[in-house]
Amino acid sequence: MLDGKKTLFSGMQATGNLTLGNYLGALKNWVSLSDDYLTFYSVVDMHSITIRQDPAELRKRARTLLTLYIAAGLDPEKNCIYYQSHVSGHAELAWILNCFTYMGELNRMTQFKDKAAKHADNINAGLFTYPVLMAADILLYQTDVVPVGIDQMQHLELTRDIAIRFNNLYGDVFTIPEAYIGKSGAKIMSLQDPSKKMSKSDENPNGSIYLMDDPDTIIRKCKRAVTDSEACVRYRDEQPGIKNLIDIYCACLNKTPDEVEREFDGKGYGDFKLAVGEAVVSVLKPLQDRFADLSKNKDYLDKVIKENAEKASWYSNKTLRKVQKKIGFPERIR
Ligand code: TYM
Repeated sequence: MLDGKKTLFSGMQATGNLTLGNYLGALKNWVSLSDDYLTFYSVVDMHSITIRQDPAELRKRARTLLTLYIAAGLDPEKNCIYYQSHVSGHAELAWILNCFTYMGELNRMTQFKDKAAKHADNINAGLFTYPVLMAADILLYQTDVVPVGIDQMQHLELTRDIAIRFNNLYGDVFTIPEAYIGKSGAKIMSLQDPSKKMSKSDENPNGSIYLMDDPDTIIRKCKRAVTDSEACVRYRDEQPGIKNLIDIYCACLNKTPDEVEREFDGKGYGDFKLAVGEAVVSVLKPLQDRFADLSKNKDYLDKVIKENAEKASWYSNKTLRKVQKKIGFPERIR
């Protein structure tokens, strides 16, 4: 809660090409929730350097991502859209929270284990304490709600644990945040292996639909999606490929699995896959068009970047000063 309004925070990493999973699991819900909260949407570039990045590429991707937030429908006049690295409070609070987080807690994080296995030559301390920076992102804005996909739930639980621990020691300092998980699309799976999450870093490009894929590519990827030989469109665990396509279709068109089963009763997979592809195109094409327009407007984007970083800094400093005082740092002389 800030300024008497409930607060929402979320972020995305500026690494790899964003996928349909990022859009349906997070970005889409950000847009639908944005009217009801004081909102902060960060391009979390500081998280990205836990894995080695090419500097020019990181800068470019960060700007692309920030532009995509706006293209998806977030008005930067009403929503604070900014780069994490422009607001020093994130790093400052993360350091403090590091001192209130246990090694054992971080050791249990499945995302750390996965990433450490993938990047065995660079298991740096940042990769290990990554969830603490994420906790700082959230707690800095006295966040009530955090819209994320299911894969971020463990990090959110840890954030809550850290906040509760801190509050027990120092009084009511942080709002305890809740996750917001959408009804559909919270875990979009790979089109080529429905036991795996659709991911930016998938080696098989046919497994993921990227936000910038053109319509023909999207339709082709949907047509090639791995399914089964049951030949019926049913929403059940025994048909993980079809279940995933139903999830995608539901999330794109705001339908329920029941409605989709009825719609495709007696129809073949060919018809269904084409319909899924068209549904995805209907969502991504307008976003791509807006992105192309916005990208031309350098001055406008620069103004958004500057003004929103100032706004985020102002709000984050309020929490940071409170925390610093509580833990006993000397007061600033004005
Ligand atoms: P990131 O960048 O991996 O993903 C951004 C958002 O997309 C969701 N997501 C998915 N949802 C459904 N299906 C999928 N296949 C899928 N893949 C990704 C993620 O759940 C996420 O909501 N650590 C975070 C970024 C972060 C953050 C934060 C998020 C940093 N600080 C504070 C919320 C609050 C991450 O790496 O997300």
